Amino acid sequence: MDIYRIRGGKTLSGEVQISGAKNAALPVIVASLLARGKSTLYNVPDLQDIRTTIRIIEHIGAKTEFDAEKNLLTIDATDITNGEVPYDLVKTMRASIYVMGPLLARCCEADVSLPGGCAIGARPVDIHLSGFEKMGSTITLEHGTVKARTKGLTGATYKMPKISVGATINLLMGASLAKGETVLENCAMEPDVVDLGRFLIKMGAKIEGLGTERIIVNGVEKLNPVEYTIMPDRIEAGSYLLAGAACRGTVTVTHAVPDHIRALIDALTAMGFTLSETKDSVTVAPGRSLRGLLVTTTPFPGFPTDLQAPMMSLMATLPGISVIIETIFENRFTHVPELLRMGGDITIEGRSAIINGVPKLLSAPVMMSDLRAGAALVIAALAAEGESEIRRIYHADRGYEKLCHKLQGIGADIVREKGGM
Ligand code: UD1
Repeated sequence: MDIYRIRGGKTLSGEVQISGAKNAALPVIVASLLARGKSTLYNVPDLQDIRTTIRIIEHIGAKTEFDAEKNLLTIDATDITNGEVPYDLVKTMRASIYVMGPLLARCCEADVSLPGGCAIGARPVDIHLSGFEKMGSTITLEHGTVKARTKGLTGATYKMPKISVGATINLLMGASLAKGETVLENCAMEPDVVDLGRFLIKMGAKIEGLGTERIIVNGVEKLNPVEYTIMPDRIEAGSYLLAGAACRGTVTVTHAVPDHIRALIDALTAMGFTLSETKDSVTVAPGRSLRGLLVTTTPFPGFPTDLQAPMMSLMATLPGISVIIETIFENRFTHVPELLRMGGDITIEGRSAIINGVPKLLSAPVMMSDLRAGAALVIAALAAEGESEIRRIYHADRGYEKLCHKLQGIGADIVREKGGM
């Protein structure tokens, strides 16, 4: 397994071009299954999760061509069948449950192994399943496989008991081809949901209320294959801004959407950093007097849970006390023990982490436990004094395209080496 070797303490400066959004590309790829024929997707990031998703939809019968250099993916979903997606494929990626929507809509049945994904809490899929039950499906669980059957999805009104990005996405796909009107309430308003909705509308779906908590879908009989460009990755953009801030550099993220990371921009400004933006770029620069902050993760437009761990690495370097309250996932502090190894002064109390900033983090051998925890360790190592070795970097490969290359481009001393545990 490869490792990252990072010599910290360099001031980062320059521009990073942001890739297409992983969490928008995943549902858009799967939603291509809703139309017979060939869809063409641009700005698809070359990531492990994307490659896993491609394997999953090929398993179901789609024919794909991925030009990773051009970030161009074509998907021909003329013939799809409910071939059970094996556990080996779904275990690494929770978004594999997304195939349920298109399979139910087109084949009236779906067999999907219960998914895995980042080890960040229980993360059940009960809301996805109750939604499909409301829309006229029966669901059973047999030997770890969810088996859903329907005589044809029908429109329904469903208030999700909790805001869920994944459930909103899955039900939106199913409702697009269901008979009649579906009203989804308490929907996720994340830009990824909106991007999927725009893709569906381009395919011919009748959807109103995207980006609000109430989405109304009038089912159509068929959707058409289309060309579509995936939106920029807001979590990647945020991660590079946090890396720049932690190293007290001046870093610009380009091909980004400032409004998608407004909560981060506001937090960095409140901490004393200088932020500036154009229509499609954001720059962070050091400020005069930096200070800690209280940040609470909440659904969009609040502070994203996916930037919580990277934000904690920055906080570990700021003067004074910072606090993070994690309200989305119950077990998302697995980066904390590793940050402690790097000299961080952090205490966990239930869902809160209290971070007492230290003058300097120190290098250490550390290990990634999940994707965003991995980003946090890279940021900490970039800011730390000395040479750190980071293991299990396959977690970062799931979500950060050309991480090493992009960081080198803004002056980081980072190399990827073969070996390690
Ligand atoms: C998505 C993102 C992930 C992000 C998360 C929250 C993708 C591929 N992943 O994950 O990066 O961290 O949104 O912004 O887009 N829940 C249930 N039952 C369900 C579904 C969810 O209880 O059926 C709970 C979860 O355990 C969690 C909360 O709802 O506590 C939010 O989860 P959800 O928004 O569904 O996250 P994902 O879609 O899995």
